[in-house]
Amino acid sequence: MKVLIYRTAQEAKTQAAHRILSAVHREPEVVLGLATGGTMEGVYAALVAGSRQHDTSWAKVTTFNLDEYWGISPDDPASYRRYMNHHLFYHIDIDLSQTHVPLADGADPQKAAQAYDAVIREVGGIDLQLLGIGVNGHIGFNEPTSSLSSRTRLKTLTQSTREANRRFFRTIDEVPKYALTVGIGTILEASECLLVATGDNKAAAVWSMIEGAVSAACPASALQMHAQVTVMLDAAAAKDLKLRSYYQLVHPDGQESALNDV
Ligand code: GLP
Repeated sequence: MKVLIYRTAQEAKTQAAHRILSAVHREPEVVLGLATGGTMEGVYAALVAGSRQHDTSWAKVTTFNLDEYWGISPDDPASYRRYMNHHLFYHIDIDLSQTHVPLADGADPQKAAQAYDAVIREVGGIDLQLLGIGVNGHIGFNEPTSSLSSRTRLKTLTQSTREANRRFFRTIDEVPKYALTVGIGTILEASECLLVATGDNKAAAVWSMIEGAVSAACPASALQMHAQVTVMLDAAAAKDLKLRSYYQLVHPDGQESALNDV
């Protein structure tokens, strides 16, 4: 894992956006895996600003979001489809028909899940997967004890996840109990993963992911098995890392490499 520690949350998010933008410029037909949540709002704001500044064309980009609350229609204000449209898609020239968010308002979650995996396969898989992390170590909505080789499926949300996401709903009772999420197996098949975590409420999960054992108890720890993972942190999220000074030595203040000085 490449661990990049920035001084501020804003810097971590801006640098993450910069990497995604570079990927789009390098490969206009790139397939991106996208995430939601509070952290990603800052990443998408920086991505929109960067796209305007560099006149980036997203016309040939395809995207797949990680997850959607089950029982929520795409038009629901709390849906991840609405989130993506408002934070990113409406501000860039992407073809909306090339943007995919799991359809979670049908009757058959298994059918919807299999259909989602099939479309990912048809386009040849995900090139760059953007990820956040839950306070309990989840990625997507793969809650602790999710199979590390899981595929898209319906997951029951933990109480802690429902409470963490309560701010996007009027009451806790409105927070859905289930979600369709891409599996950890699918995430691990992406050519490259980019995980962004900021704030000291993520420090324990970040420690488990990077320095803890690979275990379904912390789904994000499965990323230790992936050869191309970059974790972008602010100082607060990195505060519990035992090898923090080593990461800083290799990548001072999140710079790509200190090896140029050798
Ligand atoms: C939700 C999403 C995750 C995201 C997590 C963290 O649970 N399903 O993909 O990583 O939120 O969100 P936040 O950035 O708001 O802490």
